[in-house]
Amino acid sequence: MSASLQLSVEQIASFREQGFLVVPELAPRDELPRMRAIFERLFRERVGWERGAFFDLAGVDEEGRPAKLPQLLKPANFAPELRELRTVANAAAMARQLLGPETTAWFEHAILKPPGCGPATPWHQDEAHRNDPGTAYEQLSIWLPLQDATAENGCMRFMPGTHRGRVLEHRSPQSDPRVMALECVAPFRAEEAVVCPVPLGGATVHHARTLHGAGENVSREPRFAYILAFRGAMRPDPEFLGYPWNQEKRTAAQERRRVWENRGGAFGRAGRQVLRRLGLK
Ligand code: NI
Repeated sequence: MSASLQLSVEQIASFREQGFLVVPELAPRDELPRMRAIFERLFRERVGWERGAFFDLAGVDEEGRPAKLPQLLKPANFAPELRELRTVANAAAMARQLLGPETTAWFEHAILKPPGCGPATPWHQDEAHRNDPGTAYEQLSIWLPLQDATAENGCMRFMPGTHRGRVLEHRSPQSDPRVMALECVAPFRAEEAVVCPVPLGGATVHHARTLHGAGENVSREPRFAYILAFRGAMRPDPEFLGYPWNQEKRTAAQERRRVWENRGGAFGRAGRQVLRRLGLK
């Protein structure tokens, strides 16, 4: 990790106070074009569709219809070279400074906001997506745009200090449990949101409880973002029972994943390819 990415005492204090941080430089310059090319390919090829890893975050995800807001979970499963990036090591080092030495990589995902009509990402707390009852931990996400992120193409916006409150009430957008996204339905003062443009190579960091969203993409270019989530020390929490808005979800991607896993997942697919090659299937 380069010295320039060592967070200052002021940055760490600001994250604790506000629940988010803008970091002007996270990714080494030479890695940015490679990352951009990787994500352009992954989204073009819609990798992971059949296993429910690629889906429409903002729609009902019907086959044959273009996704309004395509999302890919665990892109490193489809492009393992991502794991070797210094960008990822830098992100992990930064997360450890904010969440402590027991911090581990939790998951990663990528979002493509299409040009011209890419919808706003609803206001939500990432923690509202948690579906692992009985546990407690702090979590943060590092949001790395693969072009300048601007108010015009849908940069992030945050409600300062909301990470110090509780998890607010959420629901599926339009109360449609087929849509994967969540939106916060509790009242809050959106006019106090802090809009955070980020130059290419920079990132925003936000606590999983910080209320946030992202604007529409009304520019002429697609807006790519790679998001790395980390969690701090885990402890048991018998009182956390999960959230009703997650239990009612019925998305097409969940169904594709279920079918894929029943067929043996990655192992089943490799096996079927071998059988086909042997002429047995
Ligand atoms: Ni989020």
